[in-house]
Amino acid sequence: MSTNRTDLIVGDILKRIHEAIVEHDVTYPEFQAAKQWLIDVGEAGEWPLFLDVFVEFAVEQNANRAREGSQGTILGPYHLPGAPVLEAPYELPRREDEVGDPLLITGEVVDTHGQPIAGAELDVWQADAAGFYSGFEPSLPEGILRGKVITGEDGRYEVRTVLPGPYTIPLGGPCGALCASAGWSPWRPAHVHLIVSAEGYEPLITQIFFDSTEYLDNDVAGAVKDDLVVKPERQDDGSFTFDYEFKLEPAKVPANA
Ligand SMILES: [Fe+2]
Repeated sequence: MSTNRTDLIVGDILKRIHEAIVEHDVTYPEFQAAKQWLIDVGEAGEWPLFLDVFVEFAVEQNANRAREGSQGTILGPYHLPGAPVLEAPYELPRREDEVGDPLLITGEVVDTHGQPIAGAELDVWQADAAGFYSGFEPSLPEGILRGKVITGEDGRYEVRTVLPGPYTIPLGGPCGALCASAGWSPWRPAHVHLIVSAEGYEPLITQIFFDSTEYLDNDVAGAVKDDLVVKPERQDDGSFTFDYEFKLEPAKVPANA
């Protein structure tokens, strides 16, 4: 077997494409259409979108198959590094007239023995109730529904926000055209993204989904896992709340350390 990873992996991918061409009797017009589509993806700047939506879940599942802590899932294309560390009481920045049911997320960050981790950071980002992300949808003020929350001495955290809405991947570009042509749903179920990190532990990249929302069974990004679906409780004032524990595994020591 080759020890050259490029030869091994790209060679295998190409071999499987060649096999699919034969198996499905791919025609010259279909090959030309595929070539143009690949060019269009590049020109539209949709390679990050394509890879994060259609490929990342397989990489994530494989890379984290032996994870000891909580389940993670894909990062996706809408994370922005450098979100501000918020001040307690933690509340994601939002517009004065932010639409959406109020949501209180509470819980604990613990190690694999269940011991609380003080000072852990939760980098939280989400779509608004209409399914749009700040920093990507020009009509939204920059920085809304993004921020970092820190656990207290008892390892607990809480953050107030609004329930996000489900959304489609952009429909007007080549990835949207692919979904339309293939008959695939372009929807992602409503979710909140988090990166939970603490010194000495592996960062956990994850998403929390809501059992009351649509598209859980056919997420276009294939990112839903049973452990990541919560059932928010409706409070008397109409707001929703849920509690979630994040279990972090110890940092892996690099092989060459
Ligand atoms: Fe998302």
